[in-house]
Amino acid sequence: MIITIDGPAGTGKTTIAQQVALRLGFSYFDTGAMYRALTYALMKNSIDFKNPKKLEEFLNKFKLEIQRDRGKNRYFVDGEEVTEAIRTPEVTKNVSEIAASSKVRESLIEFQRSFGKQNNLVCEGRDMGTTIFPWAELKIFLTARAEVRAQRRYLEWKDKKMAASPEEIMQELLKRDHLDSTREASPLKQAEHAHLIDTSDMSIEEVVNIILSLIL
Ligand code: DC
Repeated sequence: MIITIDGPAGTGKTTIAQQVALRLGFSYFDTGAMYRALTYALMKNSIDFKNPKKLEEFLNKFKLEIQRDRGKNRYFVDGEEVTEAIRTPEVTKNVSEIAASSKVRESLIEFQRSFGKQNNLVCEGRDMGTTIFPWAELKIFLTARAEVRAQRRYLEWKDKKMAASPEEIMQELLKRDHLDSTREASPLKQAEHAHLIDTSDMSIEEVVNIILSLIL
């Protein structure tokens, strides 16, 4: 069985998808991490992703390795662990523009679909229910008010000692929402038949229980 969870940043997708997977004994797959790892690698190698030839050469070589470690995923590119490095504000600032490239998206489709082949899977991203697994048995679309999403991200970053004011975070979130939902290549949108859940005033546990109740 495949469960897709899509929605904008700060709606709780990652924690909720991990919890649902844990409770069901399913695999968990975070596709944002894949776009982030690619962004990190392009930045590290100073590749201009707007240069089609350079981008294609890089995509042909790019390999992401994912290891499961005590219920969490660890990510490696060319033997370097990038689990933390892909969450920095610098990567976050650039990822949406790179994820909007149709060349980038095409090159990652098969890798993403391969996760649905052997396993019962909970996967999260922006286009899981619309493009990657349109045949998924259960589709969820999460939303939350922008100020709630910005506050959640602020608290997360504060914990990790990453400096940014709530206003800066809100601006960055809105910019990313705009880029993700207006791009031509599989934009962020609610899939047909996806269940819409507004997480603004709900705990993680409440959202997880709603999703589980839709299966059982
Ligand atoms: O969920 P996240 O914040 O880690 O995602 C990082 C970026 O990757 C986000 O701005 C949009 C992009 N993304 C995407 O375009 N498609 C996906 N399936 C997952 C993420």
